[in-house]
Amino acid sequence: MNKIINILKEEKSIPLDKFINIALYDRKFGYYMNSNPFGKQGDYITSPLVSDLFGEMIAIWCIAFWENLGKPKKFLLVELGPGDGSLCKVLLNVFKNFKEFYNCLEINLLEISDVLIKIQKKNIKNKKVKWIKKIDKIKFGPIMFLGNEFFDSLAIKQVFKKNNVFLEKYISLSKDRKKLEFLYKKADKDVIKKIIQLNINCKNSIIEYPNDAILYLNAVAKNIKKYGGGLLAFDYGYTKIKGGDTLQSIKKHKFVDVLSEPGKSDITSHINFDLFVKILKKNNLIAERIVTQNEFLQKLGIIERANILSKKNDL
Ligand SMILES: C[S@@+](CC[C@H](N)C(=O)[O-])C[C@H]1O[C@@H](n2cnc3c(N)ncnc32)[C@H](O)[C@@H]1O
Repeated sequence: MNKIINILKEEKSIPLDKFINIALYDRKFGYYMNSNPFGKQGDYITSPLVSDLFGEMIAIWCIAFWENLGKPKKFLLVELGPGDGSLCKVLLNVFKNFKEFYNCLEINLLEISDVLIKIQKKNIKNKKVKWIKKIDKIKFGPIMFLGNEFFDSLAIKQVFKKNNVFLEKYISLSKDRKKLEFLYKKADKDVIKKIIQLNINCKNSIIEYPNDAILYLNAVAKNIKKYGGGLLAFDYGYTKIKGGDTLQSIKKHKFVDVLSEPGKSDITSHINFDLFVKILKKNNLIAERIVTQNEFLQKLGIIERANILSKKNDL
């Protein structure tokens, strides 16, 4: 909190995306840079930590994807934001049973946090896996990008149109200089232009502009165009845009005020999947139908696999 208060004493106010980036990813102060937030002891649980079945289904999907590409001799899997490494660990366990695929495979883990890289390195001991901090470090393909709850952990801007003027959400200090509070200022011209271009303008409602997710999505698309491949992303989100504030903060499995404990709680927002499709199409990529995680896993046979495992356990 002190870091943000000091910044605000100097800068008076900062836009929401800058606030989120400091709260989550500041080198010293950021939430992800200092802690392991995952699991029952942590602040929240993600699908790879609920059950290995999630990773097993994705592993099968990856192998089918590689087969569809014509079984390329070199194939790169890039996991975006691997958390504690649980998903990659399960994937590798399954991949080892498919020798032809396994021999062609290399894995890059894109991770910003040194603390999490250390945890991932403890969980994953395999020479096929290399860590990268920047997406431009990718050197070959075809590539399959995989991200579970990666895009929804990236900073967003929030904009509101009042009396025909676009206003952007900022954070400033309260009068007693002890607390943080929101305020609205005239929005940046470039942001307004992008909101209009992307047609995400919502009347009488908050518009969320995921500037960082768009940067990553464009970088992913650039790599897919260069090397071939695809993206499989799981995130909380919606398709038909209604507008509204989806920003939320979680600590110890409970919602907390976004401004109450920056650096000590997670901050996320919901993904506008229609916007993602639009951006992929702008990059001349084919975006397949958006499905719920439930439908995706069921089509891959997660229920049958769970039944087999429960029968084995009964024996
Ligand atoms: C919400 S967690 C999801 C973790 C994991 N995928 C899971 O499902 O358990 C987001 C992950 O993305 C990483 N991350 C966020 N922004 C990043 C960035 N710009 N570059 C690389 N990693 C990033 C975080 O450090 C964290 O590992």
